[in-house]
Amino acid sequence: MKGQDQPLEITELDLADPKDGEVMVRLGACGVCHSDLSAVNGTLPAMTPCVLGHEGAGVVEKVGPGVTSVGPGDHVVLSWVPQCGRCYTCLRGQPQLCEMSFATALSGGLLDGTSRFSLDGLPVYQMTASGCFTEYTTVPSISVVKVDPDMPFDKAALLGCGVLTGMGAVRNTARVEEGATVAVIGTGGVGLSVILGAKLAGAAQIIAVDISADKLELAEGLGATDVVDASAGNPVAAVQALTGTTPAGMPRGVDYAFEVVGSAPTVEQALMMTRRGGTAVAVGVPRMDATINLSLFAHLFLNERRLVGCVYGSSNVQRDVQLYADLYMRGRLDLDALVSRTIPLDDVNGAFDAIEKGEVARSVIVFDG
Ligand code: APR
Ligand code: ZN
Ligand code: ZN
Repeated sequence: MKGQDQPLEITELDLADPKDGEVMVRLGACGVCHSDLSAVNGTLPAMTPCVLGHEGAGVVEKVGPGVTSVGPGDHVVLSWVPQCGRCYTCLRGQPQLCEMSFATALSGGLLDGTSRFSLDGLPVYQMTASGCFTEYTTVPSISVVKVDPDMPFDKAALLGCGVLTGMGAVRNTARVEEGATVAVIGTGGVGLSVILGAKLAGAAQIIAVDISADKLELAEGLGATDVVDASAGNPVAAVQALTGTTPAGMPRGVDYAFEVVGSAPTVEQALMMTRRGGTAVAVGVPRMDATINLSLFAHLFLNERRLVGCVYGSSNVQRDVQLYADLYMRGRLDLDALVSRTIPLDDVNGAFDAIEKGEVARSVIVFDG
C-alpha cells in the first residue's frame, strides 16, 4: 500500500536477511481479512508505504542468528502478535496483550522498530510485524508457529487471524461452556470461526445474525442452529424470541453474544440480546472514534451484564494454532468451508471489493510453488 485510500500496487521490493531472532518465510498462502481493508480505508492506522497482509502461512526459507525454534523447510503459520512469553501480561496468561508487541504493532517494523522491506533504500513498513501480501517476508521467530507440512497452506493461513480470533473469542475470552446459548452478529470469516468455536465448545444453541442471506446459509452449514436476517427487522427482538421467556414473561436472551462486525450499533445490539448475567464480547475492529451508550443502571446494575473486549481471540498463539491445526488434520474442524475462493496476488484489490460486497467468507491468496 503506497498510501491509504489507494488500491494496492504490486512492486518488486528489497528484503533484508533475518537479523537475530528473526526468520524469512516464503509465503504459501495469505487470507484477505477485513482488517487489511480497514488499514486501506483508514479505519485502522497504518504506516505507509507498507506491505499489508497478516493472515499468512508458508515455509521457513532462512533463519537469523540464535533461532532454534524453527529451521529452513519447516511449514509455519504467521501470527500478527509476537508473544514474548516473559513480560508482565504474557506471564499472567494474556499473551495477546504482550507488552513487547504493543509498540511494534503501530511502528510498522519488527521488534526493534525497523522494517526489513525497502525500496530504493527507503523503508517499506510491515503491517503488525508481519506483511504477508508478498512472496517472501521476514518476521520475528516468535511470530511463527510450526504446523504439519501436510496441512494445505490456504487452510493453515486462516489460523493466523480469522480462525484464531473467532475460535479464541469463544474459548479464551468468553470461555463458553457446554449447553450455553450463543448469538453471533456478523458471520464473515471471523464470525463463522466463532460458530466453529461455539460448536466445538458444545453450545446448545448458536444463533447467526447477518444481513447477507449467503452468509447465513454458510453459517447454518457450519453449525448455526438458528439464523436471523438483520436486514429484515430488529435483530435483538428476533434473537430474544428464539431464547424462551422467564417466569415473569420477559424474553430471556442469550448467555453469550459475539459482535463480529466492528460497529457501535452492533455492539449495542450484542449487549441488548444477552440475558441477565450474560456476556457480550466485542470482537470486530471498530473505527477509532466509535463509542456506545451504556446504561449503567440497566446493563451493569440491574442486569449484571458484562461487555468484554477481545484482541486476537485472547489467544496464546503457539498453543492455539497448534491445537486448531491438529483438529483440522484430524477432520474435527471444518476450515474448508471458510475458503470461498483462492486467488493470485494480482487479484488482491478484487478481494477487497468482494469483502465490501459481502460476497465471501474469505478470499485466500495462493502463491505458486
Ligand atoms: N448486522 C449484521 N451483520 C452485519 C452488519 C449488521 N449491521 N453489517 C455487516 N454485517 C456482516 C457482513 O454481511 C459480513 O458477513 O458482517 C460480516 C463481516 O464479515 P467480513 O467483512 O468478512 O469481516 P471479517 O474478516 O469476518 O472481520 C469481521 O473482525 O477482524 C475484525 O476487522 C475485522 O471488524 C472486522 C471483523
Ligand atoms: Zn510478552
Ligand atoms: Zn485479520
